[in-house]
Amino acid sequence: MMKSQKVELALNKQINEELFSAYMYLAMAAESDRLGLPGFTNWFKIQYSEELAHADRFFNYVLERDGIIKLESIAQPEIGGETALSLFKKALTHEQHITQCISDLKDLAKVESDHATDVFLEWFITEQVEEEANARAVIDQLRMIDGNANGLFLIDRELASRKAAPTNEQQ
Ligand SMILES: [Fe+2]
Ligand SMILES: [Fe+2]
Repeated sequence: MMKSQKVELALNKQINEELFSAYMYLAMAAESDRLGLPGFTNWFKIQYSEELAHADRFFNYVLERDGIIKLESIAQPEIGGETALSLFKKALTHEQHITQCISDLKDLAKVESDHATDVFLEWFITEQVEEEANARAVIDQLRMIDGNANGLFLIDRELASRKAAPTNEQQ
């Protein structure tokens, strides 16, 4: 058990948040395929793996701190009848929610004087800036083309070029 049970509970909750994120991006990958956008599918599939890696990071950390893992059910993502733009708007809204979760978690670690967790969370603070910026960049491009098919084709081609990042451990 970790010194602070509140922190332990919150870290477990964050594992669930990250797994839900993965699940949501997986649904978005399927929706993109339905829309005939293979580049978007590629992008969301990579995002899916990144979220799994985030969950793994929290999981490993809890075990490292001699904490107890309690896995709960993962909610069903509400994805359906989307457009390219609505998908990325949902992605941004979700990432803003995760940023808030990480921020609250960091505040809790401070209140509980859990310095190790406070430091551990630094990586996620930085990561969330990138996550939000990535989604915002695609939204900006999609707004610029305003539904133009040629433009969408080019954005899809660009998203097709996204490669999976090296695993967290190698960063
Ligand atoms: Fe994440
Ligand atoms: Fe994320």
